[in-house]
Amino acid sequence: MADYIYTMELRLTPDQLKGVGLVQDVARAAGMNLYLTGGAIRDIISGFTIRDLDFTVQGSPLKLQKDFEKAGAKITAVEEDTRTIFLALPGNARAEVSMARTEKYEKTGKPPLVMPSTIHEDLRRRDFTVNAMALSLNEGSRGLLLDPFNGVADIEAKLIRILHNYAFLEDPSRLIRATRFAARFHWPLEERTQARYDAAKEGKYIDHILKSSIGHEIGALAHEDDPLHVVKMLEKEGWLEILHDKWTSAKVDTNGITALMKTRQQMVDLGYTPDAGPAVMYFLTSHFSDKDVSDIQKLIPREDLVEAWRDIEDHAKELAKRLMGKEAATPSRTWQLLSSARPEMVLFLAVTAKQQSVEQKIKNYLTKWRQVQQKIPLPEMTELLITPQLPIYPKLAHDVFMLLLDGKLRSRTETLKFLKPFAPPPPPPPPAPRRGRAAKLAAQPTAKPGAPQPAAKGGKKGKVAAAPAPPAPAKPESKVQEKAKAAKPKAAPPKAAAKPASKSAKKPAAKKPKQKRK
Ligand code: CTP
Repeated sequence: MADYIYTMELRLTPDQLKGVGLVQDVARAAGMNLYLTGGAIRDIISGFTIRDLDFTVQGSPLKLQKDFEKAGAKITAVEEDTRTIFLALPGNARAEVSMARTEKYEKTGKPPLVMPSTIHEDLRRRDFTVNAMALSLNEGSRGLLLDPFNGVADIEAKLIRILHNYAFLEDPSRLIRATRFAARFHWPLEERTQARYDAAKEGKYIDHILKSSIGHEIGALAHEDDPLHVVKMLEKEGWLEILHDKWTSAKVDTNGITALMKTRQQMVDLGYTPDAGPAVMYFLTSHFSDKDVSDIQKLIPREDLVEAWRDIEDHAKELAKRLMGKEAATPSRTWQLLSSARPEMVLFLAVTAKQQSVEQKIKNYLTKWRQVQQKIPLPEMTELLITPQLPIYPKLAHDVFMLLLDGKLRSRTETLKFLKPFAPPPPPPPPAPRRGRAAKLAAQPTAKPGAPQPAAKGGKKGKVAAAPAPPAPAKPESKVQEKAKAAKPKAAPPKAAAKPASKSAKKPAAKKPKQKRK
């Protein structure tokens, strides 16, 4: 049986994983059953990017708001009717926590009647089989996958399948969602689903879409990996104009969004996790009037997305200004400024900067200057015992990098000269070994550091193999001592350390007769 908890832990980002822990702790403390559901499970199993975490609790999550805030999450939106809260989790992770519910559709175009339910009933009200799974996060059943519609099989078959014949009639936003998922995953609609989809399109079910669903679907575009492709598919199917009557792909800044997604990938490859959502929305609506943009923003439930989208240009201008000022007068200062800026701002400015100097600085930050890191002489630093275990190491490595960036250390020799004074004194040699037969052999005049090889060639394999061990550690030490001596003028007291060490080395010799008597 598949270990879904293991897969989850493997696939989630560290921030998302911490987010699961946070939500789990809050739900447990409140005595509520918690499940990871919907798209998160689909993406964990299928291997696609996990955009956000969908949780379902049995009970109302609205009463957990304060607990979530206390645990460090930010509530970014609340949907009273479905009892859903949207969370910005510490780091860069988003989550939705919904109440397990049934939805009864009494009249087309009217919001459904929402009733609390069990997780099993909740899964039945969902859109597609691949989205109708739940992973238990509860003590006792943690890791159990609920998959009543064989979603895993449809993931394997790469098919989008509705749960029942009335799916599109009940919730016409599923037409848009079906197109969005088909475009994103490049999975076709299953045959019967396609037939229902065509009939729904023909029957203009979409006219009954709820306003809240429109906002939800617009917001979802922000987190697509290939938003341009999705928008084109939505346009082809006639759904883009449902999201906004003036929306066509002509409103999109195609070059801008292409450059954005390319730079985003470049940053992801470097280990950053910029939230491209606000910038994606900016480019998808670039050629709209301010009034239309503002109307679209009003529909989106996630306040954090809207706020970041509204502020994006101003924040980018601020960063550009700083990049042109004294604060970024040298490569090292520019590096520090960009390292402390939010990755999403670096991303946005990288593709929108109007000043060539700003553009160049960000380009250097993301490419050329990274190669300078390779000039840090790590092997020599290790020989000098300047290793990550040293408290000073992070600062030292950073300082060297900054000096290299600014061209103040121009060669390896110069870099080592700078580093040597920071080399710690060598550790005292280990206590001399107890004198046994093997040690005696090693102590014989011929058993100098070079001895192991000839001895190993001799007959008594087992015992001789043990003999070279004691002198061996002395080898790297003396090498290090030599190196450290070079650094001695400024470094601390290798002498003091050496003295007791040599004393202790003499001690076992004095004990020799005692051992012999035994
Ligand atoms: N859902 C649904 N019908 C809708 C909207 C949502 O059944 N109209 C259910 C699905 O189970 C979906 C889950 O709620 O998986 C979460 O909704 P949402 O975040 O919109 O969908 P995701 O599948 O997570 O999509 P994405 O990957 O774009 O976040």
